[in-house]
Amino acid sequence: MGDISGGLSVKDKKTTKLPISGKRNILITSALPYVNNVPHLGNIIGSVLSADVFARYCRLRGYNIIYMCGTDEYGTATETKALEENCTPQQICDKYHAIHKEVYQWFNISFDEFGRTSTPQQTEVCQAIFKKLMENNWLSENTMQQLYCDTCERFLADRHVEGNCPTPGCNYDSARGDQCENCGKLLNPTELLDPRCKVCRSTPRIRDTNHLFLELPLLKDKLEEYINSMSVAGGWSQNAVQTTFSWLKEGLKPRCITRDLKWGVPVPLERFEDKVFYVWFDAPIGYVSITSCYTHEWEKWWKNPENVELYQFMGKDNVPFHTVSTKFLNMNKNMRHMC
Ligand code: MF3
Ligand code: ZN
Repeated sequence: MGDISGGLSVKDKKTTKLPISGKRNILITSALPYVNNVPHLGNIIGSVLSADVFARYCRLRGYNIIYMCGTDEYGTATETKALEENCTPQQICDKYHAIHKEVYQWFNISFDEFGRTSTPQQTEVCQAIFKKLMENNWLSENTMQQLYCDTCERFLADRHVEGNCPTPGCNYDSARGDQCENCGKLLNPTELLDPRCKVCRSTPRIRDTNHLFLELPLLKDKLEEYINSMSVAGGWSQNAVQTTFSWLKEGLKPRCITRDLKWGVPVPLERFEDKVFYVWFDAPIGYVSITSCYTHEWEKWWKNPENVELYQFMGKDNVPFHTVSTKFLNMNKNMRHMC
């Protein structure tokens, strides 16, 4: 006894739910909350509650819908938290994923799947999309200089370095690698005077490191065309439209999509073995991989814009990552943005 799943293995619990032609098929997502803290009312009100209301409405109308969400687990923030709590990033994610899940259950949120990004499915989808980007020649490679700690044997994320502020007249002695909290100046970690590794206190050195960049400028025309038509056809919120256009106006720059970290999706290229994808590259792919954990027919939900409407709910800060960057991933031909 004790098996209440009817003898199905975990894998077989996946459904075969798929879009039905002639019906309204709607794929709903809420922004994936960062795993490394307890969800607060802001998360819930911001993009979960509104999506939940919409999902319930759609079900009542008899639409064929799926509602996906899950925890965003990779990146520096998780590694930092793991250092603080003296455990591995995986342990941090397991612990906080369970907390998130419980809180949303407590609020009776009607997700069809509440997944996570640290899964083999995520690695698979992410690497497949990456290979497509390579084939299309939408990536470039560049050498950058970053601080490396020989004691910890790793490159230091901006927030993991401190030193003296280089601004004349400030000289604050514990400026962070990304910003001096005393004078407010934004910094590059290599500008710090007398830099120190925040973990072991030793002096890091400048070391070359290669990274991959998504060539956003190459797709400028396609992107503008897509945003112009889709924002109208998809009835994007005022917020989504404004934020997206202000991004475009600032000019599109190549975006670094790799990091010298361990906790992330590995970059499947020989010379990049020690690197992972930047969390903002993999996070939006989380919607897809979480769907692939939910239904065998996930591709029919994500590669079928004629029959599926995509409604994404998110906070304001997340808009450009959904409207601009994910266009590159070809994920969202028929999308609405609610925020
Ligand atoms: N974790 C991010 C945040 O809480 C949101 C990521 S949304 C994603 O701001 F889809 F891109 F994952
Ligand atoms: Zn160190």
